[in-house]
Amino acid sequence: MRRGLFITIEGPDGSGKSTQIQFMKEYFEANGIPCLFTREPGGTSIGEKLRSIILDKDNAEMCDMTEALLYAASRAQHVEELIKPALDSGKVVVCDRFIDSSIAYQGYGRELGDAVRVINEYAVCGCMPDVTYLMELDPSIGKSRINADVQDRLELERIEFHNRVYDGYKEIAKLYDERFVEVNAAREKEAIRNDIIGHLEGILKDRGLLCR
Ligand code: TYD
Repeated sequence: MRRGLFITIEGPDGSGKSTQIQFMKEYFEANGIPCLFTREPGGTSIGEKLRSIILDKDNAEMCDMTEALLYAASRAQHVEELIKPALDSGKVVVCDRFIDSSIAYQGYGRELGDAVRVINEYAVCGCMPDVTYLMELDPSIGKSRINADVQDRLELERIEFHNRVYDGYKEIAKLYDERFVEVNAAREKEAIRNDIIGHLEGILKDRGLLCR
């Protein structure tokens, strides 16, 4: 039976997820809460190998369905090898991107549609996030924050692609509003932190994971 708490953080490239994840890490450590921080694509040895194939700028010929299946394959391994065992042992798991990234990027961005959700429901085997923070930021602002020299295959996509991804995220957030928390990411990082940690603290208290 699952006892931990599964948190995911989503949003366009350059929306400040990494900064907020660092704040969460500091918060969990300060409160002595057992946690696992991980990311997608990747998280496991097999997943990291798939990550380098997926994001390699030289793999320009990769077709959209191959891309979707590789993300899903990386996720299946991640859930089985790392996420489920951590949740079963009572940990809080924080994952930088998860199933909603595939639905937004491959489903909406690549326009593969609902097939992406279906494939990924097989991949995650019922292991869905309890709460998902969506960093809301205009994709053109996010894109401008990433140095052009270090952009990966996905980040190099045209702005139209990133706009479709962002519209997709907003649709998914409405569809699954019981777990999505929309965060205005166009503010100072401390203001964003206070919103996220404040919300998280409420959940941790409800679940008896925070004893103060
Ligand atoms: P990464 O460098 O981890 O980006 P970020 O720091 O913004 O999370 O690269 C992951 C890229 O892969 C990012 O552009 C989003 C994309 N992606 C998908 O297209 N589908 C997915 O299922 C996942 C997990 C990521």
